[in-house]
Amino acid sequence: MTRRAFLKGVGVVSGAIFLPQATLAATGSRTLNRLEIPERLDGIRSANGLSYVLRAQTGSKEFVSGLNTPTLGINRDYLGPTLFLRRGDDVQFNVTNALAEPTTLHWHGLHVPAKADGGPAQIIKPGATWAPQFTVNQPAGTFWYHSHLLHKTGEQVYRGLTGMIVLEDEVSDALALPKDYGIDDIPLTVQDRRFNSDGSFDYIGMHRDVMTGLFGDHILVNGTLNPVFTPTTQRVRFRLLNAANARTLTFAFDDQRDFQLIATDGGFVERPVTCTSLVLAPSERAEIVVDFADSKPCTLISLPLESGSPFATTGMMARMHTGNNERFDILRIEPSATVSSSPALPSTLATIPRLDPADAITTRRLTLSMAMGMGMMRGRGRGESFFINDQAMDMNVINYRVKKDTTEIWEIHNDSMMMHPFHIHHSQFQILDRDGVPPAAHEAGLKDTVKVGPGETVRFIMRFENYSDPNTAYMYHCHILEHEDNGMMGQFTVE
Ligand code: C2O
Ligand code: CU
Ligand code: CU
Repeated sequence: MTRRAFLKGVGVVSGAIFLPQATLAATGSRTLNRLEIPERLDGIRSANGLSYVLRAQTGSKEFVSGLNTPTLGINRDYLGPTLFLRRGDDVQFNVTNALAEPTTLHWHGLHVPAKADGGPAQIIKPGATWAPQFTVNQPAGTFWYHSHLLHKTGEQVYRGLTGMIVLEDEVSDALALPKDYGIDDIPLTVQDRRFNSDGSFDYIGMHRDVMTGLFGDHILVNGTLNPVFTPTTQRVRFRLLNAANARTLTFAFDDQRDFQLIATDGGFVERPVTCTSLVLAPSERAEIVVDFADSKPCTLISLPLESGSPFATTGMMARMHTGNNERFDILRIEPSATVSSSPALPSTLATIPRLDPADAITTRRLTLSMAMGMGMMRGRGRGESFFINDQAMDMNVINYRVKKDTTEIWEIHNDSMMMHPFHIHHSQFQILDRDGVPPAAHEAGLKDTVKVGPGETVRFIMRFENYSDPNTAYMYHCHILEHEDNGMMGQFTVE
């Protein structure tokens, strides 16, 4: 496919000028930039535990040389520091909003009290500081934080309000895994972006950007365009975070080398899973370990969704929604001529106590749908076009009240022509089945987001414990941010 056809395929606003370098489909010589590693933030210890000082601010960054892009960031120009948390610690975040607009900060995947969750109700006004506290109480893993402002999440995340969270515990301490941050334990926050000719980010330009979610034509990794990373050790652990607004990534290596999947959204899988590719939708995470003993350069790429993938767009939408069908580079990897040896991977990583469907007191059925064509353009209410059980998100409606200390099954059905990554706050869940078929090894661990393909029905089981608050809700929603912002979200309390 030519670049022009590709750009047409993702629905580019006519008249926008595209920067010559580094579009997804571009090949040939490009200037590589050293992969940025966000600084780690460990918190300041006091008698009350650890406190982390975060400041949402505006900035600017030269992603493309010679052009300044106005950005948002946390403690920096674009994105935020990597927060290091430890199970058992009492933590407090002091989040100051130095923006001219309201924001919120949500700890995606963390098990926290509803008031500390940073959802759309925990608004931080300009100039204000929000100081949630909680005890870190869940297994080690890779999580992230991001703005969750109602109707504005997509735009604020796009401009930069997100960062990664690394959580450690006694299990992760004891495993012989690469864990030297920035050396052999590497965060990879992957995003796609579109730029205007003046360097500014191009957010929603047309109707299609909302319908399919916003697709960009440049890939940023930790905010670096055309990144290159140099392994100095035989084994490298990559913490993959799909932080795109809408694009699904199919991670693979251009030389088809395999890699070991060691963790999914909520932490370690029980045993490493050998993969040659891995599909992550927006907000999904995975930790992988890759062997560079051969010192051969290679490229981490994204492949088109496999033909016949349950996550492919169908019907009349298929022709206009081709963004997940492209192949492009994510990260160039050029190992040192000699790499230091790393210990062999442990054969077992963790034990995941299985939730028993017989313990579930209810099954909740949720159907995801979207209005198409003229119906969508007219919308309903404020123009919502995306629904769960035919309702758009309403801050005044608590959709479900869950009883504390119970187990529930949620059955998510997708009644639309494109895949939606369904995410729920409060806890990690375990997937029971996808159209009746139990999950493959790469989906059998702890998850907080699950891809639900067109026509599919996915069931997961989840336990609601530790926190209750009848007055403050948790969210569940599609993690394509333009869908979330336009109705595909609901609220539940645990009481
Ligand atoms: Cu990553 Cu409700 O969010
Ligand atoms: Cu979340
Ligand atoms: Cu969606």
